[in-house]
Amino acid sequence: MPGNKVSLQQACSIIKNGGVVAVPTETVYGLAGDFKNLNAVKQIFQIKKRPLWDPLIIHFTSKKELKKLCKYPDPIVEKLSDYFHPGPLTLVLRKNSVVSDLITAGSNKVAVRMPRHPITLKLMKQTNTCLVAPSANVFSKTSPTRANHVLESLQVPVLDGGPCEVGIESTILEILFEKQILSILRPGIIGQKELHHFLLRHHLDWKIQQSQSSSFPGSHSKHYQPDTPLILIQTNEDHISSDSIKQKIKEYYPNRIPQELKLKSNPYIFGREFYHNLKQLSKNKNSVGYIIQKSKGQQCGEDWTALWDRIKKASYKVVHWDE
Ligand code: TXA
Ligand code: MG
Repeated sequence: MPGNKVSLQQACSIIKNGGVVAVPTETVYGLAGDFKNLNAVKQIFQIKKRPLWDPLIIHFTSKKELKKLCKYPDPIVEKLSDYFHPGPLTLVLRKNSVVSDLITAGSNKVAVRMPRHPITLKLMKQTNTCLVAPSANVFSKTSPTRANHVLESLQVPVLDGGPCEVGIESTILEILFEKQILSILRPGIIGQKELHHFLLRHHLDWKIQQSQSSSFPGSHSKHYQPDTPLILIQTNEDHISSDSIKQKIKEYYPNRIPQELKLKSNPYIFGREFYHNLKQLSKNKNSVGYIIQKSKGQQCGEDWTALWDRIKKASYKVVHWDE
């Protein structure tokens, strides 16, 4: 299969013919296929080298499709979807039989979201179907946020929609109807604050929890890793000299040149470029990246939860500076 950029029209015919194509979303690029075509679904697992136990998200464009894909015995789902979609929120709900067990890895629940990229929404309207689309990267590696990132790692056609606006994957929310709990399985830029705001606006007496379980399929601790090692340095100090940091890093990677990935004060700006910066770092085969996490730093707030999750999982090693 060739790795090249394709037009919207070409992407439509690929999907209609049961093929796969990488598509832009506001979060990261996804490797998409028609959810009804099991051959396309199988190809996605194969191309990504993704184990069959790790289920796929389905992308939809209308309430009618949402209803077709899953069951929801409570109006909260429609309210969540009206409020946050199109956008970076994925809902985990009981599936209907139209969704194959291959997509959900045998689970009776399916993850669904409506993405917010105009080209991909057009593609779905024109093909008149929903798209399964995991991030368009090799399993456990850094997700792509630009068309070229996809072409650098996979031999697939790509619909170029420019750099992704958010830059990290969607928040995944499991809805536990019996307990009236919204359980965050994967943090994203829609965090507890926005979800609380949503509940207040709709006078809903539901609780929000950050899932502690590491048993949900995609929650393995090593993920998003760049080809070049990344080290996370955690410290209680306000200032550490860059010479002493570089010396420390040399203990682990004596033949590599340490390069700091500097944090920004705004999490959304940092998030948009984070995966791109990891990929740029990996272009220099002699380097080792590092990020400094200060316990009293500017980056402690709830707005940083999803980014620290990604940074920790992308890091080859965590060094506790003060010990
Ligand atoms: O922003 C995103 O969500 C991107 C774009 C392309 O939409 N997609 C994405 O897909 O990040 P993926 O496959 O790379 O990550 C989806 C995660 C996986 O960790 C998977 O285990 C989890 O969602 N997941 C999928 N279906 C699930 C289900 N039924 N129950 C629990 N977790 C599920
Ligand atoms: Mg992924």
